[in-house]
Amino acid sequence: MHKSHTCGDIRPHHVGQTVTLAGWVNRRRDHGGLIFLDLRDRFGISQVVSDPQCNADHELLGHARAEYVVQVRGMVRQRPTGMDNPLLPTGEVELEIHSAKILNRAKPMPFDVTDEGRVDELLRMKYRYLDLRRPRMQRNLELRSKVTTFIRRWLSERGFIEVETPILFKTTPEGARDYLVPSRVHPGKFYALPQSPQQLKQLLMVAGVERYFQIARCFRDEDLRGDRQPEFTQLDMEMAFVERDDVLGLLEALFTQMMAEVSDKQVMATPWPRLSYAESMERYGDDKPDLRFGLELQNITDLTRQCGFKVFEQAELVKGICVPNGNSLFSRRQVDELVELSKQLGAKGLAWVQLKEDGTFGSSFAKFLTPELLKAMIERCSAKPGDLLVFVADSKAITNDVLSRLRKHFGDVLGLRDPNVMAFCWIVDFPMFEWDAEENRWSPAHHMFTSPMPDTIQYLDTDPSKVIGALYDMACNGYELASGSIRIHERELQQKIFDVISMPREVAWERFGHMLEAFEYGAPPHGGIAPGLDRFVMLLADEPNIREVVAFPKTQAAIDAMVDAPSPAEPKQLHELHLAVTAPKKAE
Ligand code: AMO
Ligand code: AMP
Repeated sequence: MHKSHTCGDIRPHHVGQTVTLAGWVNRRRDHGGLIFLDLRDRFGISQVVSDPQCNADHELLGHARAEYVVQVRGMVRQRPTGMDNPLLPTGEVELEIHSAKILNRAKPMPFDVTDEGRVDELLRMKYRYLDLRRPRMQRNLELRSKVTTFIRRWLSERGFIEVETPILFKTTPEGARDYLVPSRVHPGKFYALPQSPQQLKQLLMVAGVERYFQIARCFRDEDLRGDRQPEFTQLDMEMAFVERDDVLGLLEALFTQMMAEVSDKQVMATPWPRLSYAESMERYGDDKPDLRFGLELQNITDLTRQCGFKVFEQAELVKGICVPNGNSLFSRRQVDELVELSKQLGAKGLAWVQLKEDGTFGSSFAKFLTPELLKAMIERCSAKPGDLLVFVADSKAITNDVLSRLRKHFGDVLGLRDPNVMAFCWIVDFPMFEWDAEENRWSPAHHMFTSPMPDTIQYLDTDPSKVIGALYDMACNGYELASGSIRIHERELQQKIFDVISMPREVAWERFGHMLEAFEYGAPPHGGIAPGLDRFVMLLADEPNIREVVAFPKTQAAIDAMVDAPSPAEPKQLHELHLAVTAPKKAE
């Protein structure tokens, strides 16, 4: 070994001992003929001191610069009085160097890897292996590893087994495009990378595995956002002989206990609140609400049907938010900024009422605000003097979307989103289908293997909009962390779903014949869920983007800037794969 201790190990009880440390030069100071190095490894920082009187290799260390890899051997000693560094766990001691070696040199860094300052994103990604040296990134990698270690142990103790499923597979639609891999030995044929192991885990249930999990890599060709990567990791799970509440109960226990072990953050409430999709949309305009704060949406559609204000009268849905003390918290100029923000978010405007402390009011639609309407609005919103009321009138989708985002904006500017709280909740009873206007057909709201709730199966033939899926989402702090469902395990019902979504029988058979067939060989009832690991760790680590918790992520443009992927293939490779590239090469 190049070292006897780590740079985070040495303490006063080591004083007098001879140790060997190795690591990177975090900082170097020359002082009165002495060289002071802060030597860093993943476990900490130790101060090592080179005195030409004691260190035979003092001269050599004179060449050591930032990020050189250095090995030093010497004696641990107490730091002189007053020279302690209380910020370092090793700060009471230092190493008096007797011999030293430079194990490798380093060019000047493209950016400072020792602090948390902002660095150009592309530069970080190009030199990701240096970016990962930064303390924040090291913390994130460790946190992620703690999470997966906990999961593996906890689930294994409860009879789950980890099974690896193939990456070269066939389409597993989860709503994104597939990444395809051409086959060399079967000209013109392609594997698809799994968007999730959905079908495979269901087939494992048919196989009698009963309790499956996998820390599974998933691939989806879709537009990237802060909480989306083209490849990401799910804690993928499936269980046989379970009902919805079994899955929810198990996941709740897993995450609550994991939080206690890996994080200082508080779980807001146990048991976790459960909201139906309809209730969540009504109260928060959103199916992944942030429950750390109130500011619920108030529906005033019925109050405004004959108010004379066309904008309100003609809209499908009119809803508002009451901001307590908003009249003093938001100046007139700031209210105008809220109107602008709402327009950017897709609204046509934002109507507002300022309730003054003295009982008077100001409003952007004062002309139409009769005393009766104002009274009814105040009542509906439980508003008090001093509050600010804001309203959006539009289609159902836009009103809910804009107000749910405005709500989160209020949460941010009013400091209501406590970063130390994780507000887990379940959203249940989702509609099973969505109408796809472009394709002019029903499409599955989650995926096509979800079971309908038994009491709504009757609507499959008559009105698919009324069918409720045995679906559940785990939401936390405004993010969707997981989705799951009780699955179909009978061939006829599965075929029926393919019919409802207008998938021709030949296509269904060609794509999913293996599922239909498997269901005929004693498939047990089963269900499962798949929390997104990256998103969960992102929340735990207080990071704004999942890139920060993925070791080697893609940029927003789906590029790996470190190795420059994707990249053109050699003509020989294309030939072997029976492929011809038809698209013109993009101008560099
Ligand atoms: P779903 O498609 O909802 O369900 O995905 C489950 C969870 O995976 C995470 N996730 C992502 N994370 C990062 N980048 C992405 N592009 C991305 N897409 C999804 C989210 C999401 O909640 N097979 C089903 C699960 C099941 O029914 O058991 C599935 O994949 O956290
Ligand atoms: P106007 O009559 O267009 O001047 O609008 C009066 C007020 O209603 C302004 O505060 C607008 O921002 C607001 N407003 C306009 N359209 C909408 C809408 N669709 N929803 C909510 N407020 C609106």
